[in-house]
Amino acid sequence: MAAVDSFYLLYREIARSCNCYVEALALVGAWYTARKSITVICDFYSLIRLHFVPRLVSRADLVKQYGRWAVVSGATDGIGKAYAEELASRGLNIVLISRNQEKLQMVAKDIADTYKVETDIIVADFSSGREIYDPIREALRDKDIGILVNNVGVFYPYPQYFTQVSEDKLWDIVNVNIAAASLMVHIVLPGMVERKKGAVVTISSGSCCKPTPQLAAYSASKAYLDHFSRALQYEYASKGIFVQSLIPFYVATGVTAPGSFLHKCRWLVPSPKVYAHHAVSTLGISKRTTGYWSHSIQFLFAQYMPEWLWVWGANILNRSLRKEALSCSA
Ligand SMILES: NC(=O)c1ccc[n+]([C@@H]2O[C@H](COP(=O)([O-])OP(=O)(O)OC[C@H]3O[C@@H](n4cnc5c(N)ncnc54)[C@H](OP(=O)(O)O)[C@@H]3O)[C@@H](O)[C@H]2O)c1
Repeated sequence: MAAVDSFYLLYREIARSCNCYVEALALVGAWYTARKSITVICDFYSLIRLHFVPRLVSRADLVKQYGRWAVVSGATDGIGKAYAEELASRGLNIVLISRNQEKLQMVAKDIADTYKVETDIIVADFSSGREIYDPIREALRDKDIGILVNNVGVFYPYPQYFTQVSEDKLWDIVNVNIAAASLMVHIVLPGMVERKKGAVVTISSGSCCKPTPQLAAYSASKAYLDHFSRALQYEYASKGIFVQSLIPFYVATGVTAPGSFLHKCRWLVPSPKVYAHHAVSTLGISKRTTGYWSHSIQFLFAQYMPEWLWVWGANILNRSLRKEALSCSA
């Protein structure tokens, strides 16, 4: 009897102290939920502020804000070409850099005729290593470069496991995706700092959000670009330079097979022209953005999902993209 009494007493004591633990836990839970809800509301608010409000007000004068010339690397196709055209439509003169002289001349003439701006071309293969940068520096010497767009990038032929990627491709990823952006900034930034104005846009990729299997080297190179841009923004914002890390998800360019299911889903995978139009309107407003509203929704999901879920989804998507690419080439 005495033992039951003491057990009952013990139970009452535990229940009383548990009550206050339960209340404390409930408070922590409520605080956590409130914080998360506020973050999600803020994220959606900035999505609207960034992607829809600028389209309602008049467009910023980029020439006045940054300078007369823009340099775009990888400017003859895809996002780079569309971005160059969008900047030209805003009155900027464009320097286009790519490997193929004929394509460069054709795109430069097209832009000059359509938008009545000046254009210049530089033929350079960013996979060639350091020797290409002195001629680029020389060619840009007398130009008041207001905007640098580090767009050039190489992708795998299709998602692959690391050992299946060729050594040449890996070397190109380092030289084209990482070295080119770093050295182009090194060439152009001193002039911008001297003039106390300028913008550097570096195109990363949604695959940098989290480690992405079957795109290991590519996604890691894009994570470098994202961190590089964000650190540069901290270093140079006070000197009047705007540095933007642009993180697109899929855009319907040559890197995805034209018949791919990705090209059929236009609101998720915009054309380069639509993408560039939206992305340029975020210039000067957001230091780190996907540049397109539906990509920003994908980015929000990517941020909040646990890594295992991202990896699981990436494996499924990349496996089906590989299958599709191999069946197209067969
Ligand atoms: N498309 C997407 O879904 C997507 C998604 C996320 C991020 N991105 C990034 O966005 C950027 C542009 O992609 P994109 O899809 O527009 O590419 P794209 O259509 O393949 O165009 C690539 C451009 O770069 C030039 N280029 C390629 N290799 C070069 C080299 N070694 N040296 C100099 N120029 C070179 C090409 O011109 P030439 O062949 O004439 O040299 C072309 O003008 C890349 O950095 C990519 O990683 C793309």
